[in-house]
Amino acid sequence: MAIDVKTVAHGAVLFGAMAEPENRRFVATVLGALTEDPKWTTTIFEQVTAGAVELRAALAWLARELRPRAYLEVGVRRGLSMAMVAARCPNVEICGFDLWIPEYAGVSNPGPAFVQSELRKVGYARQVHFVDGDSHRTLPAFFGHRRGSLLDRMRVQRWRRGRPALFDLITVDGDHSLLGAYQDLRDVVPHCAVGGAVVFDDIAPDLTRVGRSALMAERGPDPHGWGDLLGVWRAVGQEFGNFRFFEYTHYPPGVGVAVRLA
Ligand SMILES: C[S@@+](CC[C@H](N)C(=O)[O-])C[C@H]1O[C@@H](n2cnc3c(N)ncnc32)[C@H](O)[C@@H]1O
Repeated sequence: MAIDVKTVAHGAVLFGAMAEPENRRFVATVLGALTEDPKWTTTIFEQVTAGAVELRAALAWLARELRPRAYLEVGVRRGLSMAMVAARCPNVEICGFDLWIPEYAGVSNPGPAFVQSELRKVGYARQVHFVDGDSHRTLPAFFGHRRGSLLDRMRVQRWRRGRPALFDLITVDGDHSLLGAYQDLRDVVPHCAVGGAVVFDDIAPDLTRVGRSALMAERGPDPHGWGDLLGVWRAVGQEFGNFRFFEYTHYPPGVGVAVRLA
């Protein structure tokens, strides 16, 4: 189905397009080319085969439609999401932010060299700009916000100097605490280009899979009463009237997409 990302008004149309056969086949092909992730490869295959939309399918579709020149990702891990964008757009400039938490969610998290070699398998020959460290320090420093300390700004200077002014496609999938995810979204959303999109993962987690107590521990303090990442997504949606916010919650783990209109 051909739809225009900038004019689409209904989530059902947007997410329906993401579930179309070409996109699902594409996601499966890219996953098949990467090193198997002991926990996620099979799960994502199953979700995509069942016609569900999840982060990788959303990105594969948005990359096909938007043809981004610059992509920013917070939360890279083993590169599954990044590989979708890189495979669709081998010339895209990519900035990837990660703290490389060891054994993240029970699977090894080897870091930039591993991810770079994964992207090569799907035809991406450019060098990713990896910004290592806590995104709550590196993002403000990268964007030159006053919150970024002088030391952090000096640390990321080499990436900051030549960074794209705006990003056509952005993913936030790093810190999953409510306050942390909110902060990441607030830091990156203003840097999305008009006509571009911001994607946010895990707005409808599977409680049977993750477990309520693990989820509660992950989400941390909730001083604003957001409740969960869907609440965070909606709170950010209230603050950015120049975006249209969509949410897919039919099938876990759920994904949000915001398109910049003006
Ligand atoms: C859910 S995984 C990302 C999955 C990836 N997008 C994919 O599709 O496979 C989250 C990643 O965010 C990183 N992370 C968690 N907290 C972070 C923080 N405060 N700053 C930067 N990265 C963080 C972890 O190291 C991990 O690699």
